[in-house]
Amino acid sequence: GYKNIILDEKDGILTITINRPKVLNALNTDTLNELENVVRDIERDKEIMVVIITGSGEKSFVAGADIAEMKSLNIHEGRNMTRLGQCVFQEIENLSRPVIAAVNGYALGGGCELAMACDIRIASEKAKFGQPEVGLGIIPGYGGTQRLPRLIGKGRAKYYIFTTDMITAEEAFNMGLIDKVVPHGKLYEETLKIAEKIISKGPIAVRMAKYAVNNGMNMDLASGIAYEAEAYTTSFGSEDRIEGMSAFLEKRKADFKDE
Ligand code: HXC
Repeated sequence: GYKNIILDEKDGILTITINRPKVLNALNTDTLNELENVVRDIERDKEIMVVIITGSGEKSFVAGADIAEMKSLNIHEGRNMTRLGQCVFQEIENLSRPVIAAVNGYALGGGCELAMACDIRIASEKAKFGQPEVGLGIIPGYGGTQRLPRLIGKGRAKYYIFTTDMITAEEAFNMGLIDKVVPHGKLYEETLKIAEKIISKGPIAVRMAKYAVNNGMNMDLASGIAYEAEAYTTSFGSEDRIEGMSAFLEKRKADFKDE
């Protein structure tokens, strides 16, 4: 039983809904701790193939860290808070299963940072992104100063962090911050379709592709290429490789076993 998170598991898809609608799903310490527990459980659960993260209500994905809680913290607690959020978001980024953010509204501060820690971002046309932290006298502390420039470039990242300007879904799509924009009422349905499509592919291959992209982004090109060869070889050694290639040649649907 979680207080601030709703879990829904169906057909290999785990949907995590951040559920504090009265404060637009702001992330307090309790919620981050709950999220960390959920993420750790996923790693041990063989049934879960794809994870979706979304926010409850019509208006907000996550409106950031909980400002009321943050205001009362001393500097040591402030450091613990940034480290906790950073750790949880890194665990999400490194999960062996793909994680899709279904951004249903405001993704501000820690909310934008949570979305950026996911593998893929699908947004409602009403979603709005931004890093408002400097307006509160702090800087983004859940990875925003690192992941935003990696997604949209250094100059743009500084522009949006310094000005705190909000970014519409359409703008976010055009600059590569998000990967698809869909009608508001169809967000979950469209996200499920994407999750189902991923599930139909070879799970070891998807996992190795995730590792190759994630780890390669932190390497020089030659090291990344070498890493790719090793991840490729792992996929090549799987039973699923034989199944995938046989299914193609036999003109049938592959039945992958994650082996
Ligand atoms: C705590 C929040 C909150 C937040 C909204 N609320 N965001 N409470 N922390 N991040 C609360 C409001 O206080 C209000 O409570 C209720 O949710 C509804 O919000 P409103 O402001 O009335 O709604 P609206 O006018 O529609 O404006 C929506 C909004 C605005 C534009 C999203 O709420 C907003 O600017 N929120 C703060 C966004 C922000 O600065 N996020 C970054 C946080 S810093 P009441 O009681 O009045 O109903 C951060 C740092 C991460 O994320 C790294 C830390 C280490």
